[in-house]
Amino acid sequence: MNSSKTEQEALTHLELVLRQVRREAIGINSYELVAPDQKDLPPFTAGAHIDVHIAPGVIRQYSLCNDPSERHRYVIAVLRDETGRGGSRGMHDDLRVPDKLKVSIPRNNFPLSEQPRKTLLIAGGIGITPLKSMIHALEAQAKNYELHYCSKSAEYAAFQQELKQAAKTGNIHCHFDGGNPQKGLDIAALLREPQTETHVYYCGPGGFMEACKQASTHWPAGTIHCEHFKAPAKPIPIDTEHAADEYTVELAKSGQRVTVSRDQNLAEVLQQAGAALETSCQAGLCGTCKCRYLSGDVDHQDFILDDDERRDFLTPCVSHANGGTLVLDL
Ligand code: FES
Repeated sequence: MNSSKTEQEALTHLELVLRQVRREAIGINSYELVAPDQKDLPPFTAGAHIDVHIAPGVIRQYSLCNDPSERHRYVIAVLRDETGRGGSRGMHDDLRVPDKLKVSIPRNNFPLSEQPRKTLLIAGGIGITPLKSMIHALEAQAKNYELHYCSKSAEYAAFQQELKQAAKTGNIHCHFDGGNPQKGLDIAALLREPQTETHVYYCGPGGFMEACKQASTHWPAGTIHCEHFKAPAKPIPIDTEHAADEYTVELAKSGQRVTVSRDQNLAEVLQQAGAALETSCQAGLCGTCKCRYLSGDVDHQDFILDDDERRDFLTPCVSHANGGTLVLDL
């Protein structure tokens, strides 16, 4: 590793100590991370996540679920996924107090909006984690909110008691479906009538995300917010009429020009060209590779940027240009 990369990592990463592991529900552990010298950690806002370096080459994103006003610790919660790529099994099986863990500084792709009259939070299973930090923040500001927490049963729902104890200005509703979503929360009914000055935040597994998306298409622009744990099963369609097989990328700072074909990974091409670009999820979910572009026709394939951000930024781990020249602020 060259020195500039080491210096860059020192600014963007932390080495923390695992102080506590707690079983929160069936298959869900929480992990409390602190600085080795007990000093304050970089602040975070509700909805933020960190990248956790679980093993060499195994980096996963986990939402911070503790109160954002806490500076002495980060708390994440991890659902053991037997069919996943192994990150959650590594967290559950291999970590012991007081192991050291490399993590990124917090990054927020799922922030709370400042002004809504009411906030409607909808969690599916482990999707409670970013919404829990939002509840702490909303309670601290005495804001009006409602949480609908969907799970198979009480035994599978993490943080129920903590949430109920925290809730003073908001309302918490738990919905247990016994494993059959048809018997749980009627998401379509909940979102049928858009509510005035209300913003909706949802997070959970694939089927739940799709149900929330379908149920909220008629809400006013900018009032619906979500965070995916995994890239949705249905990828974003490529506009084949406009997408060329090849395009040119220009790095504005060096003037370097590179030809990129659509079947290459743009982030990797940029790294090979020497651009200072980090990646993590490689799926358009975490924002690590987000970079500014100065001109070009971008085919955005990420799941995190909103329309405003897409005017200036792209995530090259999944996105491309539709043709012509893409000028990056790199
Ligand atoms: S590496 Fe995560 S969005 Fe690109």
